[in-house]
Amino acid sequence: MSGAGRRIVPATETWLRQGARLLRAGQVVAFPTETVYGLGADATNARAVAAIFAIKGRPRFNPLIVHVAGIQEAARLVALDGRARLLARAFWPGPLSLVLPRRAGSRVCWLASAGLDSLAVRVPAHPVARRLIALARRPIAAPSANPSGRLSPTSAGDVGATLRRGVALILDGGRTAVGVESTIVDLCGTAPVLLRPGGISAEAIEAIVGPLAAATTAEGAPRAPGQLSSHYAPRLPLRLGAAGVGEGEALLGFGPVAADARPQDLDAYRNLSPAGDLAEAAANLFAYLRALDRPRYRAIAVMAVPERGLGAAINDRLRRAAAPRPMVLE
Ligand code: TXA
Ligand code: MG
Repeated sequence: MSGAGRRIVPATETWLRQGARLLRAGQVVAFPTETVYGLGADATNARAVAAIFAIKGRPRFNPLIVHVAGIQEAARLVALDGRARLLARAFWPGPLSLVLPRRAGSRVCWLASAGLDSLAVRVPAHPVARRLIALARRPIAAPSANPSGRLSPTSAGDVGATLRRGVALILDGGRTAVGVESTIVDLCGTAPVLLRPGGISAEAIEAIVGPLAAATTAEGAPRAPGQLSSHYAPRLPLRLGAAGVGEGEALLGFGPVAADARPQDLDAYRNLSPAGDLAEAAANLFAYLRALDRPRYRAIAVMAVPERGLGAAINDRLRRAAAPRPMVLE
């Protein structure tokens, strides 16, 4: 049996407890939801979430859906308005993800939402997913458990066949019932926007909150200065490939940085990973960009990050953030 095959286990209470322990310890666990299998990690642990991106081999950091136990748990992470509560009551638990403003005190790491002020949340209906979340007592960030660019998996075997490295455990809960991903509705603006059709029909949602705007009208439309609906970018200009800090700049370092290349003001300095570890750098990327993105600096100087592994996704985001605004993304 292959290594991946050995990691597929039946979703018994004993294995669910083990899965929850692994999640709490920062490991990645694949589990069934009613839509497709998810690749789960503790959403409050940026290193664990970075591991998801490494395993999927995503060339960029897309924001992830955070899975929670119920409306109350969602309300700790995001601001639920009246429309969100109506939809949640109608369709949770179930295949509906709601994109809502992140709450200031949200424990979810910035990497899970790819730096955005919004967060996608959903309450899955599958009993295995529900039990795992309850036992882990953490919000679980989980994209579909497939390598980037491949079909979403609807069985544990699909997951084991395509994701070989880095997944601590694959909980087998049989074939998923819905088979397509959750419907994603963005409620951050005045009109609800359908970002992705899925397990709940647009008509069923419109019956509750009225007409849904199409994603195409919202994609690329600025939500706030310097920000786009689905991609985070700092407000300050970025200077890539910097050898050190310049006059009036903040510095985002990577690897060892000589003292005379750093800013005097410690607030103006962050290092993605002094040891040059790309997973650590990915985990810190959005939190550090946000920390340095202050009007008192002229720009953020960014030191070079190698283009291998997670470095490709880090550089993709940095290049987009450095591009002249308004950015045309995807
Ligand atoms: O059914 C599902 O939703 C499955 C299961 C595992 O729950 N998950 C899933 O996740 O399909 P993923 O990562 O493959 O797709 C999530 C989508 C991405 O296209 C992402 O861009 C969008 O959700 N998304 C997540 N957070 C967002 C946000 N804050 N704003 C806009 N789009 C967001
Ligand atoms: Mg997917």
